Amino acid sequence: MPLTVREARPDELGAVGSLTLAAYAADGEVTPGNPYAATLLDAAARAREATLLVAVDEGGLLVGTVTYVRPGSAFAEVGGPDEAEVRMLAVAPTARGAGVGRRLSDACVEQARAEGLAAVALSSGEGMAAAHRLYGRMGFARTPERDWSPRDGIRLLAFRLSLT
Ligand SMILES: CC(C)(COP(=O)(O)OP(=O)(O)OC[C@H]1O[C@@H](n2cnc3c(N)ncnc32)[C@H](O)[C@@H]1OP(=O)(O)O)[C@@H](O)C(=O)NCCC(=O)NCCS
Repeated sequence: MPLTVREARPDELGAVGSLTLAAYAADGEVTPGNPYAATLLDAAARAREATLLVAVDEGGLLVGTVTYVRPGSAFAEVGGPDEAEVRMLAVAPTARGAGVGRRLSDACVEQARAEGLAAVALSSGEGMAAAHRLYGRMGFARTPERDWSPRDGIRLLAFRLSLT
């Protein structure tokens, strides 16, 4: 699929938030009433505190998004002091399996390399099988010592891609 990956524009933030929530909901990763839904919807906060990327197809349709997080910044969770972090990777259900997730993830890795960082880190829900396959194919390794739980009943698996 011919794709453009670029920073989100201010007028797109509502649509980016909705796409993020819809992508997680489609996989059962958020259910009605889940407190994480408001965080996923709030693309404006991600644009403010991090770098919010989008993927648009050849017709200009928004098909995916990811947040590139610098070390020590507001959205950092599992990254070390010299590691970027990838958060809220989401692809519209109708656009999956065509490499959009890979392109967005690659853009984050390229950005981290350009900034001279040592690694890219992330954490991902236990049931996110497509994401785990994607990260594995990109060379991310599991870092189980960084696994964590944001709240009762939720376990997040940590991964790290070394850039050195
Ligand atoms: C994870 C996600 C971003 C992948 O987007 P995508 O554009 O379909 O990704 P790609 O096409 O680049 O690659 C997907 C890979 O997962 C595989 N895959 C898809 N569904 C799968 C499943 N249920 N189980 C295992 N692998 C699966 C695909 O076959 C592909 O691997 P392959 O190229 O080796 O065959 C998308 O599924 C999504 O938005 N999921 C909901 C949110 C989420 O889980 N985000 C991750 C946060 S850490």
